[in-house]
Amino acid sequence: MPAGGFTGYTGGHHYPGKITWSVIIACCVASSGGLIFGYDIGISGGVTSMDSFLSKFFPSVYHLEENSASTSQYCKFDSQLLTLFTSSLYLAALVASFVAATVTRKYGRNSSMFVGGLTFLVGAVINGVALNVFMLILGRVLLGIGVGFCNQSVPVYLSEMAPAKHRGTLNIAFQLMVTIGILVANLINYGTAQIPGGWGWRLSLGLAAVPAAIITIGSVLLPDTPNSLVERGKADQAKRILSKIRGVPDVHAEFEEIVAACDEARSIERPWSNILRKKYRPQLTISALIPLFQQLTGINVIMFYAPVLFKTIGFGDNASLLSAVITGLINVGATVISIILVDRAGRRILFLEGGIQMLICQVFVGALIYVQFGVSGIGTASKSLAALLLVFICGYVAAFAWSWGPLGWLVPSEIFPLEIRSAGQSITVSMNMLFTFAIGQAFLSMLCHMKFGLFFFFAGWVIIMTLFVAFFVPETKNVPIEEMMLVWNNHWFWSRFLSEEDIHVGNRYSNSHV
Ligand code: BGC
Repeated sequence: MPAGGFTGYTGGHHYPGKITWSVIIACCVASSGGLIFGYDIGISGGVTSMDSFLSKFFPSVYHLEENSASTSQYCKFDSQLLTLFTSSLYLAALVASFVAATVTRKYGRNSSMFVGGLTFLVGAVINGVALNVFMLILGRVLLGIGVGFCNQSVPVYLSEMAPAKHRGTLNIAFQLMVTIGILVANLINYGTAQIPGGWGWRLSLGLAAVPAAIITIGSVLLPDTPNSLVERGKADQAKRILSKIRGVPDVHAEFEEIVAACDEARSIERPWSNILRKKYRPQLTISALIPLFQQLTGINVIMFYAPVLFKTIGFGDNASLLSAVITGLINVGATVISIILVDRAGRRILFLEGGIQMLICQVFVGALIYVQFGVSGIGTASKSLAALLLVFICGYVAAFAWSWGPLGWLVPSEIFPLEIRSAGQSITVSMNMLFTFAIGQAFLSMLCHMKFGLFFFFAGWVIIMTLFVAFFVPETKNVPIEEMMLVWNNHWFWSRFLSEEDIHVGNRYSNSHV
């Protein structure tokens, strides 16, 4: 088990740890799950900055943009309907992830991936052939249901298929695929925007069908996880699959652990009210606040609206899309750096460095925009100023991508004890979707009203979250997950929520892992 990885369970070392073909194929399916999520994040900003798309579906925004010399730069894209196009997906994903939790548990991980992939496929097609705003938003809602189902089931599928000692790496590999999805979307937008005839956006939206088809077909062909099969009473099949994916005939010990873990989980009658108990206050707080803070970094302002933002600060159409490609590349590269550093340097140092770097860059971006557009928002940026802005935006994206990006998912996933792990994970996913929705919906209007101050608004949040990490998030690197109680017990603040009998490590849980 890599230090402080997905489960952190050091006892896993006596199991076969090699990565077999079955596991590699499982990774490919998971990858298309990450790609789906990332593709959605990256595609809508580019599409909403294409004139042909705007004039067809959002003529009033198009009109404002056309006359932008006399309109405040800050407000030219302000339209609730336009933002609903982007953010409706996350609201649908939020609702769907709760339904998916039940499907994943009762009918298996594959079933959720299948439902997700198929819904997503239909959504992509509807968007590609859309004739009106209703079809556009309906398509986005279906995509959202797809994302909800896939984001709920794929990480669980991955962590159960992976040998314990590769779980941490796989967790961030999922985020890496998200960033690759965003980059691919930006590249595709850059290409389709050049298509004469103004139908390029149809290709951008319709191509989402490719990763959707991979996951739909993959979910039919791949076996379900041994854990899910045991959970659903198919023990014989589970043992066969386990032996296949571990590549050895004798998997008795690991199989027994899965059975024990299932029994343990079944004995918890109400994981949802269980999680409210005082001793879980540290985990509950952190699992809810980390996704909230992750979104309050303002990252999705860049991810959703980079081309719109670049246009706002005076870049031409192509320069805007190209700049989005540049930020996309930085996002992928910095995530790789995080994969390398997370188990060596630790989570806290990445969080703290990332926070400080984001803060500095945001302050510069806000100040530069103020210098150029002032409060009125009239004018265009000079070439050199625009280049400087791009540099600071890249510095900000890099900082996010090696800190809050991957850690926003990794840290909540590794702090829960077994008995509340799945309930806790749902809280993290749903909080993330809720605030992704809120930021997506509010951004263009916030830009219009808060102007350059928006960047100081997010900078303020970055100060708060960095202080929160400094004081309240303990280092989890190298800590086996079933020993996590000791971390809280040694913490200056969180220890007050634990009593003597809560601090048991070993017997009861040391023999089980998810
Ligand atoms: C976040 C997304 C964000 C992405 C950027 C993810 O960790 O959850 O909201 O768009 O990182 O790479």
